[in-house]
Amino acid sequence: MNAQELIDTARALVADDKGLLAMDESNPTCNQRFASLGIAQTEEARHAWRELIVTTPRLGESISGVILYDETIRQQKKDGTPFVKVITDAGIIPGIKVDSGAKDLAGHPGEKITEGLDGLRERLAEYAQMGARFAKWRAVIAVDDCLPSRGCIEANAQALARYAALCQEAGLVPVVEPEVLMDGDHTLARCFEVTQEVLRTVFSQLYMQGVMLEGVILKPNMVLAGLTCPKQETVDEVADATVKCLLRTVPAAIAGIAFLSGGQSGELASARLNAMNVRFKSQLPWPLAFSFARAIQQPAMEIWQGEVAHVPAAQQALLQRARCNRAARRGEYNSAMEKT
Ligand code: G3H
Repeated sequence: MNAQELIDTARALVADDKGLLAMDESNPTCNQRFASLGIAQTEEARHAWRELIVTTPRLGESISGVILYDETIRQQKKDGTPFVKVITDAGIIPGIKVDSGAKDLAGHPGEKITEGLDGLRERLAEYAQMGARFAKWRAVIAVDDCLPSRGCIEANAQALARYAALCQEAGLVPVVEPEVLMDGDHTLARCFEVTQEVLRTVFSQLYMQGVMLEGVILKPNMVLAGLTCPKQETVDEVADATVKCLLRTVPAAIAGIAFLSGGQSGELASARLNAMNVRFKSQLPWPLAFSFARAIQQPAMEIWQGEVAHVPAAQQALLQRARCNRAARRGEYNSAMEKT
């Protein structure tokens, strides 16, 4: 491991008010999103969608890194240029999702454990050789009155920390994603309580596994009421709760924080990130950035519909969402931007 290279990469991922674009949906998840829009669920369609994304002109002005999936990192454009080269030539850092998904956690009904540690050292070496410079691992934590259990939090935090240590050993920056899910009717206060416990546990495990914090990006959820909770807080209340929770739990040493969107609309995700930066940017030890999938891709996918003729308009929509999020990092986003 070259510590300085890791630190440089981690800082580059959150530099210049840019952020990450997650395009690392597994095949079943990607197919599910296509199915909901009537798009064919084929390897060809997934390839066309990913080619549309990586060839979007000027994407590198707002996006610092893209997170690829195993299928995608091996793909090429129709003219034979590897996606990794297209991305790198656009000034964007290629990354790779390396977990193999969340599976039922034995003995813990309703809870998941993310798997993928077996053979990870070898897979990381292969991805690094293919040009990836950072990686992502997502743990999912379900919330209700009784969940999550301590067992679920600890098992997932330990897996995240072992993944992060292996990444740094291989020269890849770990993006550490413990996602407290929005599903359910829990309150913002409950999300705060759970997120706080999860982040404390994750950082304790990162410390125990000897992970160098300066070479880590945290990818957390925002602190929000559950999707079906009748009381939904304002944008500013969400910003305040999220930053309060992060200040209590996240060491100042990490390179940056890049939020997941988790099923929020693109506009809300941008507005909430914007509010955090307007209200707190100058007081925080780390930059607050984004690492969105749905909140960047969704409008573009709806325009594309699998049609070649719609590619330019879809790319414009993708670029627009990326630009809105860059503006949100600067505290300069407003909803009028969505219409330009
Ligand atoms: O792991 C999840 C993705 O990287 C982020 O996706 O922004 O749609 O929640 P999302």
